[in-house]
Amino acid sequence: MSDASHSPTSASVDAPRHAPLAIDADTFRALGHQLVDQVAAALAAVPHGPVTRDQAPSALRQALGLNGPLPEEGADPAALLTEATAHLFQHSLFNGHPRFFGYITASPAPIGMLADFLAAAVNPNVGSFTLSPAATEIEAQTVRWIAEFIGVPASTGGLLVSGGNMANIVGFMAARAAAADWDVRAAGMAGQGTRRLRVYASKETHTWLQKATDMTGLGTDAIRWIPTGADQRMDLAALRTQLDADVAAGDRPCCVIGTAGSVSTGVVDPLPAIAELCRERGLWFHVDGAYGGFAAAVEESPDDLKALHLADSVAVDPHKWLYAPLEAGCALVRDPERLTAAFSYHPPYYHFDERATNYVDRGPQNSRGFRALKVWLALRQAGAAGYRRMIADDIRLSRLMADVVRQHPEFECTSQALSITTFRYLPEDLRAGVGTEAVERELDTLNRALLDVLQREGEVFVSNAVIDGRYVLRACIVNFRTERTDVEALPGIIARRARRLRDELRQATPGA
Ligand SMILES: Cc1ncc(COP(=O)(O)O)c(C=O)c1O
Repeated sequence: MSDASHSPTSASVDAPRHAPLAIDADTFRALGHQLVDQVAAALAAVPHGPVTRDQAPSALRQALGLNGPLPEEGADPAALLTEATAHLFQHSLFNGHPRFFGYITASPAPIGMLADFLAAAVNPNVGSFTLSPAATEIEAQTVRWIAEFIGVPASTGGLLVSGGNMANIVGFMAARAAAADWDVRAAGMAGQGTRRLRVYASKETHTWLQKATDMTGLGTDAIRWIPTGADQRMDLAALRTQLDADVAAGDRPCCVIGTAGSVSTGVVDPLPAIAELCRERGLWFHVDGAYGGFAAAVEESPDDLKALHLADSVAVDPHKWLYAPLEAGCALVRDPERLTAAFSYHPPYYHFDERATNYVDRGPQNSRGFRALKVWLALRQAGAAGYRRMIADDIRLSRLMADVVRQHPEFECTSQALSITTFRYLPEDLRAGVGTEAVERELDTLNRALLDVLQREGEVFVSNAVIDGRYVLRACIVNFRTERTDVEALPGIIARRARRLRDELRQATPGA
């Protein structure tokens, strides 16, 4: 039975309306000031605390009161914001900490933090120009500036996406649509007239490629993992041989992927030589520059990196080396029409100005946030010269790290490229046995356990890589807050913890 007092026709709406989420201008101002004051104080304290704290998920849920049901009634926003600020700064990992060297997550620029607030206040939907006139044009300029900074033609098309994975996937989908000699968007990968598409990438390529081939229906088996040489770079002769074999078997090469700064060690594939081969064979050349792409702008980087202009598409990641707060990736495609050819549809319910840029036609997203603002404002704050200096400083600090690690008697430095240094703890008593199976096994176990305690305890935060089957520690600097003293302190901190760890392991397994 229906209750007449709640029927749509008889329900009344307050006039003026009092929406539970509404906040008047004076209250909003006071809340904002209070929040900025609290955040500024907390950010200033970050370098003096640990990078992260050792917290089990259940303890964290308990501390943050996350076990309760959805509240039926609302609460005071000032109290909520104060509590959320305190909780987040007490229980987070800070990639803005000067001693955060893990994975590839940048120290966020303060102007980016404020820009995200401003972007949310305006809340443009950057899917179409009509819904976001200023934001669309700012995004277009941001893309042009990114292209200019890394040395690709200004006519390159592109858009901002959530990160490196999506930027690569967008480039990959443009390649797929261009490579298939059937209407792959309609027919997909099976059926009459289709052929097996093949993708070529070194075995050091980031895992976005599995997701891309999986999501687009090629399947991960379409990937030809090309071996690397001793320098971890793609072996061109092996690439050539694989291409020949696939063409002879009737498959269709879709694209070749070069990496401009690999996730594990930062090495750059021989991009000019791959580009030349792709040109010879009429193949799409995609470069994953999610990590290293922006370093193309600095003198310190390898010459091969300065060949991004030879690619058909490039992925770069402003939330890595442009220090944008998450999320911000950028897909660049030399011929902008290729993006439209891969993504555009014209549903009857849209009435968008066809003369303008409508980003809905250039990528997978429909409604889109204003990610470009934080990147655009930071580019203007630092300028190209400021960015070149910050990136070059990160690279120099990484080289210094390799030096201090090499000079320490208890470490072996295993690689240094761009701003990534890898090394392993190698106590003096095990040095003579390096290369033997028993000692290598012991070193792997020790360094794995060491990484585990370092990541949990948070005095410094590093991650890992596996190089030629050896488990190593890995420090990556995309952090304009890191100083020389942070780098110089690293071997001492890790060696002290490693010695203690060995004692703990010995006590746990007496006689070992
Ligand atoms: C070379 C490379 N490609 C792609 C990615 C994925 O980027 P994201 O995590 O922003 O999606 C990464 C991440 O570290 C990377 O290093």
